[in-house]
Amino acid sequence: MSRITYKIIGGIDSKRAKDILDGIGTLKVAIVGDIALDVYWRADMTKSELSRETPHFPLPVIQEWMSPGGAGNVAANVAALSPLKACMIGIIGDDWRGDVLYKELKKRGVDTTGVIKGVDRVTNAYCKPLRRGISDVEYEDPRIDFENFRPLAETDEQRLTNKIESIAADSDVLCVTDQMRFGCITLAIRDKITELSSKGVKVIVDSRDRIGLYNNVILKPNDVEAYRAMNSDKDPRDATVDQLIETALALSKRNRSPVCMTLGARGCIYIEGSEAYYIPSPEIEPPIDTCGAGDTFLSAFSCALALGAEGYEAAAIANIAASITIKKIGVTGTATIEEIKARVVSNT
Ligand SMILES: Nc1ncnc2c1ncn2[C@@H]1O[C@H](COP(=O)(O)OP(=O)(O)OP(=O)(O)O)[C@@H](O)[C@H]1O
Ligand SMILES: [Mg+2]
Repeated sequence: MSRITYKIIGGIDSKRAKDILDGIGTLKVAIVGDIALDVYWRADMTKSELSRETPHFPLPVIQEWMSPGGAGNVAANVAALSPLKACMIGIIGDDWRGDVLYKELKKRGVDTTGVIKGVDRVTNAYCKPLRRGISDVEYEDPRIDFENFRPLAETDEQRLTNKIESIAADSDVLCVTDQMRFGCITLAIRDKITELSSKGVKVIVDSRDRIGLYNNVILKPNDVEAYRAMNSDKDPRDATVDQLIETALALSKRNRSPVCMTLGARGCIYIEGSEAYYIPSPEIEPPIDTCGAGDTFLSAFSCALALGAEGYEAAAIANIAASITIKKIGVTGTATIEEIKARVVSNT
């Protein structure tokens, strides 16, 4: 059996990283995909009184906050990098969650020109009730989800396609977040995205269940998603770097796409043609909260690539960006351009 050869990239030269990061202010970035609203309700159970009508203790909400989720969180992460433009393309419903989503995206500096209100659509939302009692320990109740259970209407598909075409034509890079079963990335829209990529648009795709269906774009799966796309029943957490690279190479070859496969605490792998790179993450002391790390990674990786960075350089910058987000506990955080620049300088 031939041994896999790969280069280990220990980081990125701080001057080179700074040059790349300084360029982000000139970029126009488009983000298309399944937007959701993350809703948090914190209940203080010490204030709860038994309901007279039902045998339940209600959840008295003492705090409420909301933030863009799904592709909306990718857009918020892109906006935190202060590009010239971070333009969201996606679909919401005609409901309170859609209105809040517009507001929360705008508040974070995201351009919402590409967000349309769909026919018979609900705005996706993940509502998380958090209970606190006498102690400081917080418990998360089962989530209350709003999502669509019917495919996108043809008229909406057409309107979205038009938005993608016009916004991509005026953008340096297109990030795709394809998550939901009945989301906005339909077969026709996936074909459109592939077509744009073949015409020269830089396209980077993140998809939980369908990464294996994209060809001729840049793929950004995590290890589990990549293994699933290759129909492997092995657990990537038990795999050696050699084995992970072998799978990433096979995915890249089969789908005719460069692959950036993230590995959680182990960092990431970048494959382009027959070249393979392993880019370990900086070691981060606990406590950490990895929620949203993948979105931060995707944003920084895409921006760096759009500026002409090599894939392994973009991956090294994305590792640094994600390592900042994971230190933000209890929130789906973002890494700002200032935080990343400060980290790059302090690493020298
Ligand atoms: N424990 C950790 N220590 C250091 N870096 C980490 C850690 N966990 C994640 N990261 C960084 O975040 C990146 C993305 O993480 P991961 O592979 O878990 O993505 P993901 O599964 O897509 O995440 P998400 O759950 O946000 O979708 C990693 O490549 C790495 O740079
Ligand atoms: Mg992910």
